[in-house]
Amino acid sequence: MRTPFIAGNWKMNKTADEAVAFVREVRHALNQIEGVDIAFCPPYLAIPALADALKGTKIGLGAQNMYFEESGAYTGELAPSMLTPFCQYVILGHSERRAYFGETDEGVNKKIRAALKHGLTPIVCVGESLEQNEAGETHDFVSGQVRAAFAGFTAVEMAICVIAYEPIWAIGTGRTATAAQAGQIIGVTVRGTVASMFGEETAQQVRIQYGGSVKPGNAAELMGHPDIDGALVGGASLQPSFVELVRNSVV
Ligand code: PGA
Repeated sequence: MRTPFIAGNWKMNKTADEAVAFVREVRHALNQIEGVDIAFCPPYLAIPALADALKGTKIGLGAQNMYFEESGAYTGELAPSMLTPFCQYVILGHSERRAYFGETDEGVNKKIRAALKHGLTPIVCVGESLEQNEAGETHDFVSGQVRAAFAGFTAVEMAICVIAYEPIWAIGTGRTATAAQAGQIIGVTVRGTVASMFGEETAQQVRIQYGGSVKPGNAAELMGHPDIDGALVGGASLQPSFVELVRNSVV
C-alpha cells in the first residue's frame, strides 16, 4: 500500500517571512490530516526558517533543485550537503528547469544519484509538451525520460524515489488532465517503464504523483485513481485552501 504524498512546489514565490507566516496559518490543520505525507518545497532562502516553523509537525521540507557536485566552483548552485540539515526531499528535472535552465536527462540522472547518496528523496519530474501530446508522442517521450532518469540505479534505489508525472500543457494553465488520462499515463507509461527496468514488485512500490493544475475541487477525483499516489501542486499550494486540497486527496 503506497501512502499518498502531496508536495507543494512554491516555485519562485514567497519571501522567507511570507513563507513562515503562511506555514503558521496552515500547519496545525495540515498536521491533523491522516493517511497522507505532506511537504513544502519553498525557494532556498525560506528553507531554514521553514524547517524551524515545521518542527514538531509531520510536514516535510524539500528544495526545488540542487547541483550534483559536492562543492566547488559552480557559481549560483547549491550542493546536496547544504540541503540535508533541513530537507528530506528535492524536486529534480521540473519541466520549468528543463525549459528555461537547460536541465538535461543526463544531469537529472546525476542529481538523482547525488540526492540518494545524501539521503534526500528525489521527486523526479517527467511530462510531455502540448505538441508532443497532440502528435501522439506522449508514451514514447515520457517513457524515454523515465529510462534516462533512472538508468544505472538498483531496484532498491528506485523504490525510494518519487516520480511526478506533469504534462507541461497542464502546468499553471488551469487545464488538468482527467483522472483517466493521468492515470493511464502514470499506470501504463510511467509505472510500466519502471516495471520493465526494475520488475513489477519495485514498480508497485514507487510513488507516482500527478502534477498540473491540481486544485481543491479536482484533487479527490485525481487521487481516487488507483495509480495516482498524490500530487505535486504549484499555484494551489500557495493558498490557505491547500489544506482543503490535501484533505480532499485522502480517499
Ligand atoms: P500548477 O504547477 O499546480 O501550478 O499547475 C504544478 C507544478 O509545476 O509542479
